[in-house]
Amino acid sequence: MAERIKELLEGNREWVKKMNETFPDFFEQLSKGQNPQYLWIGCSDSRVPATEVTNHLPGSIFVHRNIANMVVHTDMNMLSVVYFAVKHLKIKHIIVCGHYGCGGVNAAITGDNYGFLNNWLSHIRNVGMLHKDELELITDPQKKSDRYVELNVQEQVKNLSMVSFIQDEWEQGEYPYIHGWVYSLEDGYIRDLKLTRNSTAPL
Ligand code: CO
Repeated sequence: MAERIKELLEGNREWVKKMNETFPDFFEQLSKGQNPQYLWIGCSDSRVPATEVTNHLPGSIFVHRNIANMVVHTDMNMLSVVYFAVKHLKIKHIIVCGHYGCGGVNAAITGDNYGFLNNWLSHIRNVGMLHKDELELITDPQKKSDRYVELNVQEQVKNLSMVSFIQDEWEQGEYPYIHGWVYSLEDGYIRDLKLTRNSTAPL
């Protein structure tokens, strides 16, 4: 176990070496402050890291991740991240990025008892309830899961657009834009669900 954790620290040293070779002033620049252009609300899944899958460097994306990329209105952690991003960092584009094959969504679909996790899954299960009619018609489990993932992103984009201080921002101007994307674990591509909202298209 101790050896395993050492691998991370060794990896860090290799990464610093590589970064210094490729971008000589990288650390000097970033140590002065951050100016990210995007806020990413994604899944905690280890396979969907925001900067890697968009080929961007540290410093470019402010990130909040949780199980199944949820926007829950009582989640102070999520709200604080979004508030800071919008009010202080002046971020103009918020991306809710789900991913096909999401374990959180698949757990919600089963209806099984996941103990403590049922608390969180209930928010995902609410999406299933909202779109019950459409989802019930899909018999293929894979297709049902994929569609559930898309509908979940759709609902989280909607939840985000109902956040008080986002609506305050829209009173002032067109930003922020809220985008709904889905990442495919199978081919690595991101699909834009074209759900984008802003002050001119809030709902
Ligand atoms: Co997931």
